[in-house]
Amino acid sequence: MFKDLRDYVGYLERNGLIRYVDVELDPVLEIPEFARRVILSRGPTIVFRNIRGFPGWRMISNIFRGLDVFKIIFDVKDLEEVGERVLKLLPERSPESFFDKARLLIDLIRSGRYLPRKTSQADFLKNIVERDGFNKVPIPKIWPKDGGRYITYGILVTKDLYKDVYNLGVYRAQVIDGERAAIHWFIHKRAAYVYKNAKEMNIRKIPAAIVVGTDPATMAVAAMPTPYPIDEYLFTSLLKGEGVELIDLDGVEVPANSEIVFRGYISLDELVDEGPFGDYRGYYDYVNKVPVFKLERLYYRDDPLYYFTVVGRPYMEDTWIGKAVERIFLPFIKLIFPEIIDINLPPEGLFTGGIAFVSIKKRFPGHAKKVMSGLWGLGLFSLVKMIIVVDEHVNTHDLGQILYSIAVNVDPSRDVIVINDMPTDELDFVSKVRGLGSKLGIDATIKFPEENYGREWPEKTEPDPDVYRKIDDLLRRLGLI
Ligand SMILES: Cc1cc2nc3c(=O)[nH]c(=O)nc-3n(C[C@H](O)[C@H](O)[C@H](O)COP(=O)(O)O)c2cc1C
Repeated sequence: MFKDLRDYVGYLERNGLIRYVDVELDPVLEIPEFARRVILSRGPTIVFRNIRGFPGWRMISNIFRGLDVFKIIFDVKDLEEVGERVLKLLPERSPESFFDKARLLIDLIRSGRYLPRKTSQADFLKNIVERDGFNKVPIPKIWPKDGGRYITYGILVTKDLYKDVYNLGVYRAQVIDGERAAIHWFIHKRAAYVYKNAKEMNIRKIPAAIVVGTDPATMAVAAMPTPYPIDEYLFTSLLKGEGVELIDLDGVEVPANSEIVFRGYISLDELVDEGPFGDYRGYYDYVNKVPVFKLERLYYRDDPLYYFTVVGRPYMEDTWIGKAVERIFLPFIKLIFPEIIDINLPPEGLFTGGIAFVSIKKRFPGHAKKVMSGLWGLGLFSLVKMIIVVDEHVNTHDLGQILYSIAVNVDPSRDVIVINDMPTDELDFVSKVRGLGSKLGIDATIKFPEENYGREWPEKTEPDPDVYRKIDDLLRRLGLI
């Protein structure tokens, strides 16, 4: 596993997967546009070495260039192995209920093998800036009408003071001035819990850090929906299969292998306008009132490497992050819903903000609707706008098979459900109210007689087996198949 971002860059270099750009470019619009074009064309990782106004700094983008990259990052053949790494910790004969399993898992974790480790050494301690830190870093402006410069892949580290667990989340942050950034999390995200808990405890400052660039596995896990209140350093360590190394910065622990750390706090006394921002739907998000991150100290490594990504219409880097989350989390979802065979959150369907195809081993009437309801109650899956359920033999990654199932198996008045006033992605500008909209479920499975107005499902057409074999031989001999 890569020990930090530079170790990963070294790997990319050895394999010819990186390009250095030495032409002078501006971090405002020019560098992001260069990166966007390379990302869209599925090009290499890009390092910019000549950044206007920031001598000595480098910027890097497109480190998550496709789904296969995550296999290298997590050192697995198949991404589901990453989730299974955690589930393997459960003994063979484990208790039946999900909650018993989860409790057992937490006990095992506490036994120590996967605990994050503490250190007092970090290369970023070499450069400390006390004033005006946000203006000392080449934070880019991505889209022409964005409200300002944005940290697009900053890992916000906060400690939930109520449960005493760490939260890591990639939330966009807009630079307001040299020492303030507007930080944007949705109501459904863990930082919103941390904020609400602090408010209830009458705390005015939540100690926090924004980390830019650590080892790529930790960077990826920070964008994953770890269920509250599992400690996210613990969860990261479990998914990596090794404890992350942390250093304490006056009460906030951050990965010791970080490139850049903005240390400060979230103020509960100030809300500011954030936006517009060109988001992953391909449109500018509205201006919203959000909390402020106040910077107290900036830390960075020598020869610093600033990672940024560009979000926009698919296929950008977050497409592949989303796909990796889908694969890594599938084993956990299957633990809760053993009837689920596979899930596809297609990039064009905008992941949890849009459309999901789910295949199930159907056992009883109404089973597909039971699965839809369950998924709409599960973590960030609750935000998925449309769920289409198909039978186990249907490949959820084959749109043709999905459409065939819908066309053949669906009677709209019976198989399509619409539920109003459910939680939705806050970036979904077609919903009734921000964060509140409707859901569509399509049961495209084969129906039991109880579901099919009392009729048996008709028999599928299949050729006569003897004739099939004979014609198959003949076709092969004639070279026609
Ligand atoms: C590039 C990128 C940008 C993101 N920006 C935001 C954001 O601005 N606000 C937000 O709530 N989630 C954002 N997310 C999604 C969160 O990182 C993700 O939901 C994660 O699970 C949040 O952490 P949490 O589960 O601890 O809340 C972004 C993800 C990526 C990959």
